[in-house]
Amino acid sequence: MFSTMEELKNACSQCRKCALCETRNNVVFGVGKEDAEILFIGEAPGENEDLQGEPFVGRGGKLLDLYLGGIGLDRKENIYIANMLKCRPPKNRDPKPEEMDVCIDWLRNLVHIMRPKIIVCVGRISAQRLISPDFRVTKDHGIFYDKNGTLMMGTFHPAALLRDPRKKGDCLEDFLKLQDKIKELGIEI
Ligand code: URA
Repeated sequence: MFSTMEELKNACSQCRKCALCETRNNVVFGVGKEDAEILFIGEAPGENEDLQGEPFVGRGGKLLDLYLGGIGLDRKENIYIANMLKCRPPKNRDPKPEEMDVCIDWLRNLVHIMRPKIIVCVGRISAQRLISPDFRVTKDHGIFYDKNGTLMMGTFHPAALLRDPRKKGDCLEDFLKLQDKIKELGIEI
């Protein structure tokens, strides 16, 4: 375990624990305020993220930024955003369980350093891995689960919203619930 973000990011940037290191352009560790109390966790970098080294910078990322901005959050100012996988799976296929098994240690270490009060799982992949294998986004989105003192909530992945805009209202409700929770916990943003 590393005890500072700098050490952790540095070690992660040289990771060769799975085959994705062969095809990546950049390790996408995360972006944001490193001592934020709110952590967002997506799935894996796509093409743009792999090229730029930052999570959620494509069309979906722009949409995520809109939802964040709607409740006064900003990816650089008051939250941190990371992914289950730090390297892009070829052709944006779903992460393989064995890739997540090795990559999750980076995330565990990040959570250990940050100690966030709230973790928001963006999409099915992170919610099923971090909240419950039975998590169904359509049914379980917007519900806060207390996991050893950290509140965890799953919501829609922006790519899913782009595919089916009818889900946008439900996603907005999740963000409004998040805003209420931030106030309830007295988190300063
Ligand atoms: N989708 C994700 O889940 N994460 C990213 O960083 C980009 C797209």
